[in-house]
Amino acid sequence: MSVAPPRHIAIIMDGNGRWARARGLPRHFGHRKGVEALRRTIEAAADLGIANLTLFGFSTENWRRPASEVQELLGLMRRYLSSHVAELCENGIRLRVIGERQGFSRDLAGLIERAEELTRNNRRLVLTVALNYGARRELTLAVTRLVEEAAATGKAPLIDEAAISARLFTHDLPDPDLVIRSSGEQRLSNFLLWQSAYAELVFVDTLWPDFGRADLEYALSEYGRRDRRYGAVVTGE
Ligand code: FPP
Repeated sequence: MSVAPPRHIAIIMDGNGRWARARGLPRHFGHRKGVEALRRTIEAAADLGIANLTLFGFSTENWRRPASEVQELLGLMRRYLSSHVAELCENGIRLRVIGERQGFSRDLAGLIERAEELTRNNRRLVLTVALNYGARRELTLAVTRLVEEAAATGKAPLIDEAAISARLFTHDLPDPDLVIRSSGEQRLSNFLLWQSAYAELVFVDTLWPDFGRADLEYALSEYGRRDRRYGAVVTGE
């Protein structure tokens, strides 16, 4: 690989519904299979030496889905957080959740806090799951905080990139080097818009429930072929 391996990979998990429809099954079957793909992918990323993995689990826009599907997704999160924390610890994985917690019920918020607490000393991979997350909302909250903090001191706000980055949910994570989206769709859908300014984007046709190590390896090999210039010209050209 000519470029350094990515320190942070972010994934938009897409295609659960289509996976189910292709089999004549209700959409929730796709989401259930999607949890298996999520577990496979976390393990593969840790094996491949990735330090940070961020997964888009539930967007601020996903509340617009039918109530039964929203309940199914929230139920899967509950089950994952209650049953798989030991697995995360065995694999040295620290779990963090980004997004607006107040959107969730007290029991789900409690499970999130518990999982974060129980995994906080794990060092092999930092797994960040975006739940009730939207990038525009994140940026709006960051700027609001900046203005409110300044108002509290009676000074004009100092608005620059570092001040905004420091107030994002991802303030302690490096920017993603690689963003992957499954299912053949090619868009960011309000995911990590600020942080992905210079990310390499890789789109794979695999529907999320079928995603696994081979897709991650493919995305990494594609990433390895990219020439990352960050807007500059490579000297000697
Ligand atoms: C998109 O498929 C997928 C999601 C809504 C998010 C991913 C959800 C899971 C993997 C399940 C549970 C999550 C956690 C965090 C335990 P889609 O329904 O948009 O698929 P479609 O575009 O084919 O309809």
